[in-house]
Amino acid sequence: MSNFPDPPSSIIALAQEYQRRAYCPYSKFPVGAVLVGSNDEVFGGCNVENSSFSLTICAERVAMHTAVAAGVREFSYLVLSSHGAVAPCGACRQVLAEFAPNLKLFLISPDAPEIQQRYDLQELLPAAFSGSAIKNAP
Ligand code: THU
Repeated sequence: MSNFPDPPSSIIALAQEYQRRAYCPYSKFPVGAVLVGSNDEVFGGCNVENSSFSLTICAERVAMHTAVAAGVREFSYLVLSSHGAVAPCGACRQVLAEFAPNLKLFLISPDAPEIQQRYDLQELLPAAFSGSAIKNAP
């Protein structure tokens, strides 16, 4: 990731706060996400699990869908907080790519302010499927 500044400490702390809000009684794996719009608007999310397991939604999709519902569709970066500073699941990579194929990602842990990993979304989802494929169909 070239020349992109690290997020301010307030955004890192906010992602950790969203992680604490996770509802994850089944996996006990809380995740917090903060998605920052091109206009610097901030949208948070946490994973929300369900007793019918497949209805669980990830933190990244909560943040993205909240932003889109608020009228924001352009994004610059995402901060994701989880134990082990894991990268987004495949489904969330695809959802993030719908609106932000050039998104920057910063992965952090719940208990430390340092960035653990930095990625471009294109590194995590190369050759992504996109709406242009549908439009170009015969
Ligand atoms: N989870 C996320 O919130 N984001 C991801 O990218 C990976 C997984 C959540 C879903 C579930 O509540 C828990 O982590 C364990 O899979």
